Amino acid sequence: MAKLTGLNKIKTAVFISGTGSNLKNLINFSKTKKSPISIDLIISNTIKAKGLSYSNQYKIKKKILNFKNIKITEKRLLNLLKQNKIQFICLAGFMKILSSKFIKQFNGKIINIHPSLLPRYKGLNTHSRAIQNKDKFTGCSVHYVTEQLDSGKIILQKKIKILKKDTPKSLAEKVLKQEHKLYPKAILKIFN
Ligand code: GRF
Repeated sequence: MAKLTGLNKIKTAVFISGTGSNLKNLINFSKTKKSPISIDLIISNTIKAKGLSYSNQYKIKKKILNFKNIKITEKRLLNLLKQNKIQFICLAGFMKILSSKFIKQFNGKIINIHPSLLPRYKGLNTHSRAIQNKDKFTGCSVHYVTEQLDSGKIILQKKIKILKKDTPKSLAEKVLKQEHKLYPKAILKIFN
């Protein structure tokens, strides 16, 4: 593979809605020599997303888009991505569902991280559902984004043990740590 510098890396946008620990982790990864991607744009659907602070900290362009009218918003979003020559999208705790029209425009170029061993527990509250069902294991998955929620092809998964004493909170913390390892690994897997 050709040597990657900041200039010829794959221009990537990260979509967030919350804390942004995966965003921060991806930014740090993107600065390493081995990373095939650069993070060039941060998109959030809410001004309240704490992760937006990484825009100032790392001098990365950000845009907050209110998804109340999805058609209009996605049109603006597509223009923005085009203007910034974005080639790849990582969803990281992004709480809005993108339309199939939008996903088609970026076919095979949108990935997501999900805090469960997909296909188990699509959607929200994955940790409490795993505990309620007395599962022995949980984990996280990086997958392609398709029209069906949390159902695209899985790129990589990491399994972790659920202990008797685990709560949804303790599990969320443990899984998040693994997410930070898994997301960069999955990106390397895609592009290497
Ligand atoms: C992560 O657990 C991710 O899997 C889920 O939302 C959480 C986002 O965490 N989709 P953060 O905002 O990256 O800290």
